[in-house]
Amino acid sequence: LKTLSEFPSDFLWGAAISSFQAEGNWKKDGQGPSVIDQTRKEDRTTNFDDGVDFYHRYHEDIQLMKELGLKAFRLSISWTRIFPTGNGKPNLAGIEFYKNVVHELKQNGIEPIVTIYHFDYPTQLVEQYGGWLSRKSIQDYENYATYLFGALGDEVKYWITINEQDHVIKMPERLGIGDGEADFSNYKQEAYVANHNMCVASARVIARCHQLLPNAKIGPALSYQAYYPATDQPEDVLAADDLATLTQNYILDLQCRGHYNPIFKKYLVDRGIFPDFPTTDLALLKHNRPDFIGINYYSTDDVSSLSAQEKFGKTEGLPVPNKEYGIYTKTKNRTLPTTKWGWTIDSVGLRIALQRLYHDYELPILITENGFSNEESLEKRAGVTTVSDLKRISYLHDHIKAVHEVISSGIPVLGYCVWTLMDVISGHSGMNKRYGLIYVDRDNDNLKTLQRIKKASFYWYQSVIKANTEEV
Ligand code: BG6
Repeated sequence: LKTLSEFPSDFLWGAAISSFQAEGNWKKDGQGPSVIDQTRKEDRTTNFDDGVDFYHRYHEDIQLMKELGLKAFRLSISWTRIFPTGNGKPNLAGIEFYKNVVHELKQNGIEPIVTIYHFDYPTQLVEQYGGWLSRKSIQDYENYATYLFGALGDEVKYWITINEQDHVIKMPERLGIGDGEADFSNYKQEAYVANHNMCVASARVIARCHQLLPNAKIGPALSYQAYYPATDQPEDVLAADDLATLTQNYILDLQCRGHYNPIFKKYLVDRGIFPDFPTTDLALLKHNRPDFIGINYYSTDDVSSLSAQEKFGKTEGLPVPNKEYGIYTKTKNRTLPTTKWGWTIDSVGLRIALQRLYHDYELPILITENGFSNEESLEKRAGVTTVSDLKRISYLHDHIKAVHEVISSGIPVLGYCVWTLMDVISGHSGMNKRYGLIYVDRDNDNLKTLQRIKKASFYWYQSVIKANTEEV
């Protein structure tokens, strides 16, 4: 690119959290059980019950958002705060909480981006009929979302249907049907039934949203990345392409085009696990496309085909073939740096991902999550207590620059949400893995003061928002 255009003046500079990772107040004020309880059982060292206490501290947190200059804030609703059993009668204390949060955001000039469901599926729906494995789940999700449109629709313009459906179906504990230890290949069939039901449920909710809130915009948030062939062998290029189809594009093809991708369909048919469904489902999907595609982007993977490995004998040091698809294995990229958790740091990958996504679906894109994780603790610098998270600043700078480049090519990107506003409990690593622009003073098992302390990245992002560019 020879020149960069400006970020749009209404670009949604944002930050994100999710309910189970931030709110705390677990099982209080009427909240019912969710499948996250299983995750909590697996990670016994972390106290999940209090989160980072967003439930009680949202006034203070919204003031910090205002100081930061945020234009948008992505939060998720805990389904079981609204319907403790997943369906039935609403819990007024639950809806009151979100009404207050959303109202206070609007009062402070911050656009709420509301995720209807972010991992915390109601346990009792699994007990009643198997959750997403049953078509009954479609109606309950529609009723829940419709209730939210009625209660919050006056103030909420941006809605996210489901967070990372692609991950949910691969994680039995998130579907409420396993303990996270089982081999995915054992319940692939269920996974793709759940996937189909989630796509249909989303389309029904998109239809409802368009009918009830004509000015609102609604779309999914999927984890989306670029896959690279591990070598220039055509087999590896094919494996990388196929992996993208089998892990991410198949959902988007259903949601945005209303059909099963033929490569994906053949993969399921060959294994006898193509779901049964009424043909009317596809018409419903075709007519109720999302208004935008939300993506959570963190890193990229290299992909090696099993046949190339066999052919060239490159198996040494490589992971065992992935049982999930049986066609590829992920290999380590030799040049990209990684986080402490081995995730590649790859801002060019974001540009590639956005370009591919737009090329394939031609819908506006919202970056619903992007961020850098680290182990962090407070430091004293010139008498000031802070965290000098320079690596996070560098990560965010490079990724926002990638967005800037993509926008300059004419691709519509609505906004960018840093994961996370403040440190929250990581899904699998407790408080050891921090993403926030704001440090929260608590450990895994010790709640300490829960005080909020601005990191260096807070001030950096503040200047980015103010200047409307990453070049500050
Ligand atoms: C996304 C989720 O998958 O990635 C978040 O939507 C999650 O809920 C984030 O926290 C980062 O993952 P992790 O495992 O590093 O916390």
